[in-house]
Amino acid sequence: MDSLEFNKIFGAVLTAGIAFVGLGIVSDNLVHPAKLERSALNIKGADAPTPVASSPAEAPIPPIAPLLVKAVPADGEALTKKICVACHNFNAGGANKVGPALYGVVGRMQASAPGYTYSSALKGHSGKWTYAELNKWLLKPAAYAPGTKMAYAGISNDQIRADVIDYLRTLSTSPEPLPTPAEAAAEEKAASASALKTESTPAQTATPGLPPLPPLLASADPSRGQALTKKICIACHNFNEGGANKVGPALYGVVGRPRASYPGYTYSTALKGKPGDWTYEELNKWLYKPSAYAPGTKMAYAGIGNDQTRADVIDYLHTLAKQPLPLPPVAGGSTTAAPGPASPQAVHTPASNTTRPADGN
Ligand code: HEC
Ligand code: HEC
Repeated sequence: MDSLEFNKIFGAVLTAGIAFVGLGIVSDNLVHPAKLERSALNIKGADAPTPVASSPAEAPIPPIAPLLVKAVPADGEALTKKICVACHNFNAGGANKVGPALYGVVGRMQASAPGYTYSSALKGHSGKWTYAELNKWLLKPAAYAPGTKMAYAGISNDQIRADVIDYLRTLSTSPEPLPTPAEAAAEEKAASASALKTESTPAQTATPGLPPLPPLLASADPSRGQALTKKICIACHNFNEGGANKVGPALYGVVGRPRASYPGYTYSTALKGKPGDWTYEELNKWLYKPSAYAPGTKMAYAGIGNDQTRADVIDYLHTLAKQPLPLPPVAGGSTTAAPGPASPQAVHTPASNTTRPADGN
């Protein structure tokens, strides 16, 4: 793929995200487009945050059949028109764009659109695009096929993912049948049985084992961190000294300050419920996955999956002070860990969607 073309598209998507902020709609769009869609259109169903895994493993994905039975394809279509159409053609006989043409994708072999050059990551998947496979793929493309070229974080809201799949199903001269209510009930039963089993294992901390931060901070580049904040975080945050709150609280001086403490900003109870200071370690966990750190947080941003990029951002935040706190010492003096933005294939990579869009494989 031509990276210039990609950058243009990416720019358009990003601009769209910022435009939403301008309209005063929380820009869920940047990362959880589905959630925005649901609340903006005020469609049935609570907009509760997706439940977060309580163990290092991802939360088990809910079965698709019961969700498909309730799905509204028009809602799915509306989302694809806002997001997916930047990269995909949905018309019968439509051409490939940045991504493969999607008419007839349900039931078709994976990575098989004629004339489209897939990543080896997706080509490595054989089998058909069943509802269940689409459900996993659209939840988090980068986890389903690490190294995929699809630079899209995924749809975290289960029902909206099903709405989109239901819409994809209609793109056919003879759409695949939907699961029957009986099939849906059977899947639901099977899923709750296995959920009970997992509950009996002791709850673990919300953050998967992140690599030690001090070596990453030692090799961090605050200007790279600043560049990312200028692309992403600035839509919601002010970084200037004395800057006003925006959708999110002002961030000048955030390193070392108590969590959820900026004057005049109304924090979620989720973040207020986590007393203590924003140490480097806490920022590292928060920025890895805000919704896991403080389930129910108002920060509608998926997080930065790349460990070095996250450290770059933290290093930049640390400069936003009259007297920046010292960086943490590196244990045992082994500073030679992974220079550069190299953490191999972070599974959860909103950062690679944004900072390094062209390196999809
Ligand atoms: C930034 C561009 C981009 C966006 C946005 C995007 N996609 Fe994709 N999509 C791609 C690319 C590129 C691929 C090929 C992936 C590969 O080869 O690894 C792809 C592949 C796919 C495939 C697999 C198709 C096949 O032939 O095997 C499906 C299904 C899909 N996308 C659905 C969606 C849906 C639904 C959305 C919106 C919710 C979406 N995509 C948003 C770029 C994008
Ligand atoms: C879509 C808007 C949005 C984006 C994008 C966003 N944030 Fe936030 N951020 C928020 C909101 C809203 C809160 C308040 C969270 C709460 O109260 O639960 C917040 C809170 C925070 C806090 C806690 C501040 C405090 O005073 O306790 C930090 C640190 C932070 N964000 C950093 C970042 C960084 C760094 C980025 C970019 C990598 C970023 N945010 C991207 C909206 C956003």
